[in-house]
Amino acid sequence: MPATASKTVSYKELGFVNTREMFRDAMKGGYAVPAYNFNNMEQLQAILTACVRSRSPVILQLSKGARDYANATLLRWMGRGAMEMIKEFKEGPVPVALHLDHGDTVELCKSCIDNGFSSVMIDASHHPYEKNVEITREVVEYAHKYDVTVEGELGVLAGIEDEVSHEHSNYTDPAQVEDFVKKTGVDSLAISIGTSHGAFKFKVKPGESAPPLRFDILEQCEKRIPGFPIVLHGASSVLNEYIDMINKYGGKMENAVGVSAEQLRRAAKSAVCKINIDSDGRLVMTAVIRKVFAEKPTEFDPRKYLGPAREELIKMYMDKNANVLGSAGRIK
Ligand code: G3H
Ligand code: 13P
Ligand code: ZN
Repeated sequence: MPATASKTVSYKELGFVNTREMFRDAMKGGYAVPAYNFNNMEQLQAILTACVRSRSPVILQLSKGARDYANATLLRWMGRGAMEMIKEFKEGPVPVALHLDHGDTVELCKSCIDNGFSSVMIDASHHPYEKNVEITREVVEYAHKYDVTVEGELGVLAGIEDEVSHEHSNYTDPAQVEDFVKKTGVDSLAISIGTSHGAFKFKVKPGESAPPLRFDILEQCEKRIPGFPIVLHGASSVLNEYIDMINKYGGKMENAVGVSAEQLRRAAKSAVCKINIDSDGRLVMTAVIRKVFAEKPTEFDPRKYLGPAREELIKMYMDKNANVLGSAGRIK
């Protein structure tokens, strides 16, 4: 088998859908579609199982790092396998999109489009505005030829984006959104309103709560591009339950803090149609695996620690769909 994918495959052959209809329905229904990242089989199984059981549409996200980690060719076949597996669920299938998260070059986006992705993000938000427009438009022109949807970004989140570390958020300027959407032709727009990537989102003292998101910026954006799908990155809640478990079983994650479920529920009811969650999945896996290792030091069968981690992931994703994003029960 070659190390890189060599033959073009359309997402339609694999059974994925693009995000167009998903976002139309989410906008109408006042909920957000979950966009969960995965890097391995157990995460993929958990996301699909949770979303099928919840009757929720889902966006499976792969970052450049995940693609490098798992191998593009293998991922193509995993994608095909996942869509075959989903047919076996007694509940029946749900719409699934395969999305490139934080694509940093036109070439990477094109490669994903040629390899079964139904949606790509081109994140050129750290470039000057005109350059961001130019790069994003180039991706849109290619993607739309294949009916692949494109997410662009305006504003930069604090944390890590594209291996560039940003100390501070650069909030989206609402005055730019209309021009950006018009000039690029993107299908959705990620904005920066105070969320950030990772498990240490805000610097708060013990007992203090995280600063609220800038809903004023979100509302101004919505006014400029009414009915247009908006995306929130960096939306993990960094659930205390798992942070406590990690710390209890030998980890060291003091001062980890995320976005509250209440803030996310409010966002999901607005034009925010896609909410990105990666860190919460990482925390669940780490917490469960640490617990198994601490309680059963002789255990060395990966199925005995990855299996329980997968079960806990299913629980966490189902809870997000039902109680945070509002996407549960939307697919009959
Ligand atoms: O927003 C970034 C995602 O959490 C992906 O992270 O690049 O480490 O896979 P990664
Ligand atoms: P979190 O780190 O908050 O999970 O954000 C994930 C994300 O934005 C993926 O693009
Ligand atoms: Zn992100």
